[in-house]
Amino acid sequence: MFEVISNEVLTDNVHRMVIKAPRIAKSRQAGQFVIVRSDADAERIPLTIADADVAAGTVTLIIQALGDGTRRIVGIEPPDGLKDVAGPLGLPTHIEKWGKVACVGGGVGTAVLYPLAAAAAEAGNEVTAVIGGRTEPLVILRNELAEFCDDVLVATEDGSLGTKGFVTAVLQELLDDEAKRPAAVFAVGPVGMMKAVAEQTRPYGIKTLVSLNPIMVDGTGMCGGCRVTVGGEAKFACVDGPEFDGHLVDFDELASRQATYEKHEKHEACRLAQQLNEMKRGQK
Ligand code: NAD
Ligand code: FES
Repeated sequence: MFEVISNEVLTDNVHRMVIKAPRIAKSRQAGQFVIVRSDADAERIPLTIADADVAAGTVTLIIQALGDGTRRIVGIEPPDGLKDVAGPLGLPTHIEKWGKVACVGGGVGTAVLYPLAAAAAEAGNEVTAVIGGRTEPLVILRNELAEFCDDVLVATEDGSLGTKGFVTAVLQELLDDEAKRPAAVFAVGPVGMMKAVAEQTRPYGIKTLVSLNPIMVDGTGMCGGCRVTVGGEAKFACVDGPEFDGHLVDFDELASRQATYEKHEKHEACRLAQQLNEMKRGQK
């Protein structure tokens, strides 16, 4: 069992969980992930390792509770624990000293972006974080990123914080200004956002890395669930990624593969909401 040390609500359905996992804390590198099961009969959920504390032997996971598997994980409170945490999995982030780096995070994707931004700053880059969400409470990790980024710029779709619009509008301002133009860009978030960022940086020839989150099952390259096409070749995000050159990713295929189970997921979400309401009514 992997003991849950803390479980805190960051925003709407998004939790930050610190768990005891000394071996993973020691060996993990930025960009890697774990596959978690809350109980023996639960779904396997891939989660990026947002942070680690080697001395305390803990790792931090940020979890958006959407389906049954993630809801069960965020429902576990200290001192209980998670049944399985397998990892670290995936390839570590490729970091160089590029100079100016823009780290673009859309919504919950900012949780995956956080360790990449930290590694880029650690390598001596000048890091500007560009993060966004639909509205202010959905913009996560702003203060945490400010601890090591040179600047943190925010965009919200309703204009409640920072620039009104998508993160891509803020990135475009950096691209338009030669003095601020980044030499490398990391983008993590919804597929449409990562595709948009890759199209923005392509004309400038700016190195653009995206972190992909296709459906994963085993996390070991055996099941083929996480197949993506990159540069015309089939790759498995769990062993060849999760990071890839954004200019080479077939985002349309990724979006269509992700949509395969959307109907089932919506049905499951409705069923869970109904169950919760029935439980609440039973408690009254
Ligand atoms: P969201 O749909 O609310 O979008 C968050 C922000 O991303 C928006 O406010 C906007 O700034 C930007 N954005 C979204 N679509 C865009 C587009 N087409 N063009 C330009 N910018 C765009 O996101 P959310 O609900 O907070 O997060 C859920 C999404 O994030 C899911 O799609 C999930 O798959 C994805 N996600 C991806 C990763 C990853 O590793 N790539 C990790 C976690 C979540
Ligand atoms: Fe099975 Fe990647 S999750 S091949």
